[in-house]
Amino acid sequence: MRSEKLIVALDVSTEDDAKELIRQLKKDVTFFKVGLQLFTSAGSKIISYLHKSHLKTFLDLKFFDVPATVGKACMEATKKGVSMLNVHALGGREMIERAVDATGNIAEKLEIRKPLLLAVTVLTSSSNLGEIGLAAETKDLVLKLALMAKEAGADGVVCSPQEIEAVRRECGDNFVIVTPGIRLPDQEPDDQKRIATPAAAIKAGADYIVVGRPITKAEDPLRVVQIINASIHDMEGWTPPVKEEEVSDQVLSQGEGLQEEGGDNAVSSQQMTPQDRPIEIRETPEIPVPEGTPSASPVETTEDSVTKEETTLKIDENGEPPLSH
Ligand code: C5P
Repeated sequence: MRSEKLIVALDVSTEDDAKELIRQLKKDVTFFKVGLQLFTSAGSKIISYLHKSHLKTFLDLKFFDVPATVGKACMEATKKGVSMLNVHALGGREMIERAVDATGNIAEKLEIRKPLLLAVTVLTSSSNLGEIGLAAETKDLVLKLALMAKEAGADGVVCSPQEIEAVRRECGDNFVIVTPGIRLPDQEPDDQKRIATPAAAIKAGADYIVVGRPITKAEDPLRVVQIINASIHDMEGWTPPVKEEEVSDQVLSQGEGLQEEGGDNAVSSQQMTPQDRPIEIRETPEIPVPEGTPSASPVETTEDSVTKEETTLKIDENGEPPLSH
C-alpha cells in the first residue's frame, strides 16, 4: 500500500546505502528526499537514479544566499528533474522571487513540469529563537514567513506539525504544506523539538510528511513505512481490514499525538482508543489521490540532459513502478 503523502528522507552517507534503502522501500514509497548529507556525498547521481527508477525527488538543500546565486542553484536543480526543492524563507522576499522565476523560466524553456518550490520557515529542531536574536514567538514568525513566501510566489512551505493548522488557515488550501518532525507514538524525538505522529500531521492539514530516522534506523524499515501508510489511508477515510490477533504497540494514534519535546501529551499504547485498533498491513490496489490534492509529479530527464517529455508515474498491476535502469 502506497501513500503519495509520505516522503522518506534518505539521510545516509553513501550512494550504495541510499540505493539499498530505495530498493527495500520502493514497493511502498514513491517520494524520496535527498538532503545535505547524501547530496554532499553522492552528488546528483542519486537524483538520476531515482529518476530512472520512476521515483520522485525532494531536493532538500535549503538554499540561503544572495538572490542571484539561489536563482541559479534552483535553475540547475530544475534541470535535474527534481519534483520538489526548497529555499530558506529567512533569505527574504527577493531571494524567493528569484527562485520562483528561475524554476518557472527554465521549466518553461525546457517544456518540463515545474517542481514545487517550498520555503523553509523555522526548523523543526528550533525551540529558542531568542538565541539567534529573534524576539518573535515561533508560530508568529512561521506565519509571517509563510505569508511572505506565498506573496513571493512560492508553492508552499516546510513547517513543523505545530504550525500546520495556522498556516493552512492563513495561506489557503492550495498552499502546499510539507512537515518533518514526525515520530511514531512513544518514539525518541532525537534533535527534533516540535513533533507529531504521522496521522496527527495529516489530520492537521499537511500535504506531505517527511520521515527520516523512524524509518532509516528501524530494524525493519519497510514495516514502519507500511504502518505509516496505513495510518495515512485510515486518516483519509479508508479503513484497512482488522486482524484481531495482530496486536502491536507500534500502531499509530489518530488525530492526537501533537507533542512538544518533554511534553506530557505523547501518545502511549495504554492511551489508545478503539479507533487505534491494530491493523493488518496488506497489499492493496493504488488508491486514487483526491481531486485538488497538490501533487509533485516527476519530470523525465536523462543523466546529463533534460528531455521535453513529461512523464507520469507508471504503476503496473502489482503496484510496482517499472524500473528502467
Ligand atoms: O530523522 P528525521 O525524521 O528527524 O528527519 C527529518 C528530515 O527532515 C531531515 O532530513 C531534516 O533535514 C529534514 N528537515 C527538518 N526540518 C525542516 C526541514 C527539513 O527536519 N524544517
